[in-house]
Amino acid sequence: MSMVTCIAPVNIAVIKYWGKRNEELILPLNDSISATLSTEQMHAKTTVMVSSNFTKDKLWLNGKEESFENPRLATCIREIRKRAAEAAGQQSEFVKYKVHVCSENNFPTAAGLASSAAGYACLVYSLAKAYGVEGDLTSIARQGSGSACRSLDGGFVRWRMGSKADGKDSIAEQLFDEDHWPEMRVLILVVNDARKKVSSTSGMQLSVETSDLLKHRVENVVPQRTKDMIEALKQKDFHKFAELTIKDSNSFHACALDTYPPAVYMNDTSHAIADFVHRYNKSKGVNKVAYTFDAGPNACLFLLEADVPEVLGSLELVFPPHPKEKSFVRGLPVQ
Ligand code: DP6
Repeated sequence: MSMVTCIAPVNIAVIKYWGKRNEELILPLNDSISATLSTEQMHAKTTVMVSSNFTKDKLWLNGKEESFENPRLATCIREIRKRAAEAAGQQSEFVKYKVHVCSENNFPTAAGLASSAAGYACLVYSLAKAYGVEGDLTSIARQGSGSACRSLDGGFVRWRMGSKADGKDSIAEQLFDEDHWPEMRVLILVVNDARKKVSSTSGMQLSVETSDLLKHRVENVVPQRTKDMIEALKQKDFHKFAELTIKDSNSFHACALDTYPPAVYMNDTSHAIADFVHRYNKSKGVNKVAYTFDAGPNACLFLLEADVPEVLGSLELVFPPHPKEKSFVRGLPVQ
């Protein structure tokens, strides 16, 4: 028997992945870049047990038994077993043992808070440990949920779209490790933690089918922006980093709105937060805060450690916390 427990972090994209060139293999239309958060407050935790006594693969998600029929889940486990068999020899009995998986998130699932990313990264990593699989795991995690491939490394990570039809070169790699920019912080502003109406998967599929703006984004905007982002990160140029992050978030949401019928993820509070950030930056004469929104209304604000107290104070003046909550803002280090 083999039992492994792992935790995996959330990642927040600053250059967004939106659109696939291959739905089954989960191959993206553009490169993306993300920051990996510290696992302290937001993470997925997975325990995997492989045993000759089990008669069936089983999965519990946040305490509830789920079907293992989910094709993405099935692909991840099949790929891990294939690799394990290649390493241990096709005849190895262990590879054929069934697996029980228990996974939980300590933050809302499917509310645009990258829960599937942390969940699949954690699942694939734990399975790999349990079956003794080594080497690149990002191409397997990618087949669980695209953004999951960026949660296997700390710091700033780039997912390369790749060009091969089989997706072998569509892997994630660390650009800068967690010590590169230790002052970087993220504030997560939970506007609404309900499950999103249009999932990322179906939203982006519809965008690929109907949005001309997405074609323009993929061909003419993201390639140069990716280069500029890498340079801003390398130079630790926060002003530029913020501009690029904000522009890319808005470019992605513009494509979501250009989709027919439109995918509307940001709400009035989200727009009020974006407006706050622009006013704050203008008052400082330089970008001190960046916002980015995924496929949901919750805001992720990037800022430097020294600016956290003042920004938090100003935020809570404009958006007073709910009487039952001490604060709706959670500060997390990037790690
Ligand atoms: C807006 O990785 O959730 O968060 O590959 O279909 O599972 P699938 O989609 P998913 O999409 C994430 C989209 C995003 C942007 C990003 O994280 O890059």
